[in-house]
Amino acid sequence: MNEARIKDIGACVFDAYGTLFDFNAAAKRCRDELGHKADPLSALWRTKQMEYTWQRSLLGRYVDFWQVTGDGLDFAMSALDIDNAALRDKLMNLYMELDTFPEVVDVLSRLKEGGFKTAILSNGSPRMLEAAVDSAGIAGLLDAVLSVEQVGIYKPHPSVYQMATDWLGASASNICYQSSNAWDAFCPAALGFQVVWCNRYGQRPERLPGEPVAEVRTLAELPPLLGL
Ligand code: LAC
Repeated sequence: MNEARIKDIGACVFDAYGTLFDFNAAAKRCRDELGHKADPLSALWRTKQMEYTWQRSLLGRYVDFWQVTGDGLDFAMSALDIDNAALRDKLMNLYMELDTFPEVVDVLSRLKEGGFKTAILSNGSPRMLEAAVDSAGIAGLLDAVLSVEQVGIYKPHPSVYQMATDWLGASASNICYQSSNAWDAFCPAALGFQVVWCNRYGQRPERLPGEPVAEVRTLAELPPLLGL
């Protein structure tokens, strides 16, 4: 047993895309068709997808994450002069069955064995999240899959993170929240969550309110922080 650095936790709540599921997996699997444009496409797709969630939230024009993801892809393909409807469909379909990062199944299993509740809290639509969870075979390792669809606005709106506290029936400080998206680590920390920033991509700290309680490189480092 390790000594817990993060204490008084009832549940571990995970961001989905980039944290459990590798959003670059779709473009990687189309490398033959995309060639040298695979990496720039994936990066721009993700950037526009996130920007559209923030811009739509500020504008008060919510559409679900499937729509936003398609819009982000359309922008990115256009910016890179890729005009291929079949490839667009293929990339979108692959988004429904993204690879999990290698340590995910083992970490979720250890948390469950250690007595922690586990959940996903994501921008993803219920249909996207269900497909990703099923294709990863992790449904049995999760107590809840929470989608922003319930509140009709995207992260980092506080009402999104509040879904996790409402679900657990506890305060933010009783939840250990994991995200690899730096802004999605700092913002819930500002709201009182104990956040572990899974800094897979070697990002720089955000200049935003909130401070994660720990920074790790992969989720494999999480169980010891909780005393497992
Ligand atoms: C999510 C995005 C932020 O899953 O990765 O909510």
